[in-house]
Amino acid sequence: MTTLVVGGAGYIGSHVVRLLIERGEEVVVVDDLSTGFAERTRGADLVTLDVTRPDASEKIAFHLRASGADSVIHFAAHKQVGESVQRPEMYWHDNIGGLANVLSACENAGVRDVVFSSSAAVYGVPDVDLVTEELAPSPINPYGETKFVGEWMLADAERAHDMRTVALRYFNVAGAGWPELADTQVMNLVPIVLEALARGAAPIVFGDDYDTPDGTCIRDYVHVVDLAEAHIAALDYLRGDERPHRVFNVGTGTGSSVLEVLDAISRATGEQITPEIGPRRAGDPARLVCSNERIRETLGWKSTKTLDDIVASAVAARRGTPAGS
Ligand code: WQD
Repeated sequence: MTTLVVGGAGYIGSHVVRLLIERGEEVVVVDDLSTGFAERTRGADLVTLDVTRPDASEKIAFHLRASGADSVIHFAAHKQVGESVQRPEMYWHDNIGGLANVLSACENAGVRDVVFSSSAAVYGVPDVDLVTEELAPSPINPYGETKFVGEWMLADAERAHDMRTVALRYFNVAGAGWPELADTQVMNLVPIVLEALARGAAPIVFGDDYDTPDGTCIRDYVHVVDLAEAHIAALDYLRGDERPHRVFNVGTGTGSSVLEVLDAISRATGEQITPEIGPRRAGDPARLVCSNERIRETLGWKSTKTLDDIVASAVAARRGTPAGS
């Protein structure tokens, strides 16, 4: 089997590429290397290409045919919520345009199976304990909107062409499976805190007056290797016959507060952490935790790693050592 992975030199994409190669599949990575690194794609063929360009669809179709690919996983996208509010046109143009180019290339080359990176950001600020896929999406920023519209585009492509698609809605992804594949961007809680500690600065907690047990926001942190395994399960699902669903949450189903994450980081680093309590960040739901019943029951996927595993692997990656060593 051959899979073309768009955005396969990025943080999550490169973990999926590594797992595909480990199980003996052929992989072609298409990536513009704007935030990804060629070194992360070892074992795959790398095509350096910006999929948002007008001629990208034809080029992707060429590589799909040349490699004999039978499936595509699409990661490439901008993913910063704050930036999406500042530069909505870029998010719509690149996230939606890039996906359109990839889907039309699939149609052109006769590739049927597509897995798409969606996000918990499609849910906005849901007021429920566990978010199920049945909850109507209601994104509150352009980033989440582009992910939701991307899911619509997949559904339309399925109806129009002989395609089969899965959208995976990621919750809060962190950790590293291999040090060299670690998240090098400092945009989310775990890398932000590790970077602050490395500078000798106090991490900032965005509000401790939420209606949660310790007053800080609760999220569903999922290990990047568990998330990567979900993509493999999704590919297997598309290749099979039974297909009752096309959208899946990917998370552990367990919530951790910001202070609990800081405690885990303290355990992993051996450093005592005294955070600064800052104001709330606009748009933060108090709690965002998924029900993962659908993916467990339909894809047979389950998370295997705890918050301590996630944090320990992120800390080990910063030190350049495999987790656990
Ligand atoms: C986690 C928690 C913050 C930084 C984002 C996207 C979402 C999805 C996952 C991709 C929150 C708190 C953070 C800090 C803090 N992405 N925090 N101090 O916002 O839950 O989700 O990533 O699809 O769409 O929005 O992640 O890592 O920014 O924050 O207290 O310095 O940590 O308030 O409760 P978020 P995050």
